[in-house]
Amino acid sequence: MPAGTDERWRCFVAIDLEDPARAEVDAFLGGLRATISGVAWTRPGNLHLTLAFFGDVPASAIPELTPRLARALAGVERFTARVIGVGAFPSLARPQVLWVGVVAPPLPALADAVRRAGEAAGIARERRPFRPHVTLGRMRARIRGAAFDPALFARDGGRDFGAAPVARVILYQSELAPDGARHSPLAVFPLDRGDGFP
Ligand code: 2AM
Repeated sequence: MPAGTDERWRCFVAIDLEDPARAEVDAFLGGLRATISGVAWTRPGNLHLTLAFFGDVPASAIPELTPRLARALAGVERFTARVIGVGAFPSLARPQVLWVGVVAPPLPALADAVRRAGEAAGIARERRPFRPHVTLGRMRARIRGAAFDPALFARDGGRDFGAAPVARVILYQSELAPDGARHSPLAVFPLDRGDGFP
């Protein structure tokens, strides 16, 4: 078979968490690392908010996907998100994914536009509803009782980690590795500065 015909790339579209919120979240993550075991923590520098998860995309679809994303994001202005609260999916009582929440009025429409661009490029729309968050870590095995005290986490439920400027959206390839996923940018889409200049 010719090289590349059946190649599939695990792709997602995300916003990198930026300072000042990133530094606050990093410091918080450092504390969690020291107190909670059994969690695969997100590498520093990998903290991001996923707008759309495309799954395994045929490599041949990427050249169509990229311009569709560019069109979907054209004219979208930069904005500032706020990182507020910590929690767990599916719940603090049964934590599997630990996260910090992200709030910004433009986010739902942005995620929808990106997901629609994916659909237009032939990528099935994911069923997971959009819940803006930055994943801090994933439980390696479900932790119960003394090993994970939800109160430790819940007391930061409403904590404000500050502002996260959003100036670009990134199409990432994710390669799974035993020591954690590696994310490489395939395309970067700068958002408008809002002064008429892109
Ligand atoms: P998460 O942060 O909520 O875990 C790279 O793996 C990114 O894609 C992560 O941000 C992850 O979201 C998201 N992701 C991974 N698998 C997914 C799935 N099955 N459905 C939706 N998003 C997924």
